[in-house]
Amino acid sequence: MARVAVVTGGSRGIGAAISKALKAAGHNVAATYAGNDEAAANFKEETGIPVYKWDVANYDACAAGLKQVEADLGPIDILVNNAGITKDAMFHRMTPDQWNAVINTNLNSLFNMTRPVWEGMRTRKFGRVICISSINGQKGQAGQANYSAAKAGEIGFVKSLAQEGARAGITVNAIAPGYIGTEMVRAIAQDVLDKHILPHIPMGRLGEPEEIAKAVVFLASDEQAFITGSTISMNGGQYMV
Ligand code: CAA
Repeated sequence: MARVAVVTGGSRGIGAAISKALKAAGHNVAATYAGNDEAAANFKEETGIPVYKWDVANYDACAAGLKQVEADLGPIDILVNNAGITKDAMFHRMTPDQWNAVINTNLNSLFNMTRPVWEGMRTRKFGRVICISSINGQKGQAGQANYSAAKAGEIGFVKSLAQEGARAGITVNAIAPGYIGTEMVRAIAQDVLDKHILPHIPMGRLGEPEEIAKAVVFLASDEQAFITGSTISMNGGQYMV
């Protein structure tokens, strides 16, 4: 069945692939973005998917933005919490700003985005919440104490909410991508990538955003009603849980 879906950070990287795949599956998609107007405008023109600009770290902005999406498209049945940033630094050099920015955008956003749509999902007895965590929330990563803490927190959030939503027809799951060929990963210095990361990926390559997107479509479907509280690892064999 065609549903209204919101994808945060939905105009670039993994989020753009998710938005496109959900649209291709027949859903009515809204993509949110935080700052890159040019990328968002190009994405909208290329895909026909409407874009909405707000900061997922801000509760009031999320509540108002989601209200607008519902006024434009209808009740939100699928939420993909994908937006995320990195501010990598070894912990002895990490600043409070680097810590807070990552926790606010990657972890507090889960509350900010999910809380305003949760009651509607409960009332309608249907919902799909999919959170894009990370391999680094599962295994930890030198240089990412902030990011790994947020991404591990995401998995706890999913497991708790899955229990609350189960009787109301809402599934809540996480996907933990490994290293995917997006701008975020390409920002890592080549020597760090070659020395510390690629040798640990048994498949010997980065993942594709489209591979993650296909799993989101699967979890978002009406038919997939019995998987909840799960974390699907998609990392080329780099870390097996
Ligand atoms: N594991 C173990 N040791 C590591 C390491 C790693 N992944 N990365 C770096 N080190 C070591 C270095 O070899 C170096 O040791 P030596 O001095 O003995 O050679 C030491 O740590 C300091 O490293 P740098 O010289 O690189 O320090 P820096 O201050 O210049 O940079 C950094 C620090 C920015 C964190 C950089 O190391 C880095 O970018 N690391 C990669 C972090 C990472 O994997 N980020 C993932 C981004 S993609 C993403 O987040 C998406 C996702 O979900 C997977």
